[in-house]
Amino acid sequence: MRIIIVEDYEEMSRKSAKVVSERLRRKPDLVLGLPTGSTPVGMYQQLIKAHKEKGLDFSRVRSFNLDEYWGLSPDHPQSYHYFMWHNFFNHINIKPENVYIPRGEAENAETFCNWYEHKIKEEGGIDLQVLGIGRDGHIGFNEPGSSLGSRTRIKTLTEETREDNSRFFEKKEDVPYCAITMGIGTIFEAKECLLLASGDNKAEAVQKCIEGPVSTETTASLLQLHSKLIIIVDEEAAKNLKSKDYYKHTQRMAEKLQAEPR
Ligand code: GLP
Repeated sequence: MRIIIVEDYEEMSRKSAKVVSERLRRKPDLVLGLPTGSTPVGMYQQLIKAHKEKGLDFSRVRSFNLDEYWGLSPDHPQSYHYFMWHNFFNHINIKPENVYIPRGEAENAETFCNWYEHKIKEEGGIDLQVLGIGRDGHIGFNEPGSSLGSRTRIKTLTEETREDNSRFFEKKEDVPYCAITMGIGTIFEAKECLLLASGDNKAEAVQKCIEGPVSTETTASLLQLHSKLIIIVDEEAAKNLKSKDYYKHTQRMAEKLQAEPR
């Protein structure tokens, strides 16, 4: 695990965009796994800037989104389709046919989920999976109790998650009760994962994810078993980490050696 503790949201956004750009420069046909939510918006803005000012090229990139609300059409303003095009894809040169987002209105959810899994494999698997984290420690929409081996499927949202996400909707009743999400097993198969967290409302989830037992209670904790994982958190989100000083020490050592912290 490479744990990078940064000052604030801006630094988290810059550093995470740098990781994505580096991987993309190394592999122009990168397969990206992407999240929604407030956390990655700053990273998307940095990537758009790098595209516009430095010609960062997304023309060969394939992308797979983690999740989508069940029942929302792609043009619904609160759908993750809408979010992704509005916040990112409309501003870079990714080809629309290379963008994959779960369909909230799929006629047959099971058939769709199997197809999504198959498509990820057909494209060679996800090279870099970017992740946010929910307050209850979920990644994607894998709420507590999700099997750590789960695959893409429909998942019922907890009331806490519906409450948290209601800020994007007019009223809480409008927040869907279910979502299609990549499973924990699907996410775990990504060749590399990059988890981002900002703000003290994520501090408990971040501590459990990094230092707690691997458990379905905090589905992000399975990432502890991943061999290639970078976690970028700001000071507020890192505030409960028991070994925070040690993580910072490894970071300083890495900076000295001009390597990534280990
Ligand atoms: C939703 C998404 C997650 C995201 C989480 C946190 O539940 N399915 O992918 O990580 O929200 O969102 P935010 O970044 O807005 O705190």
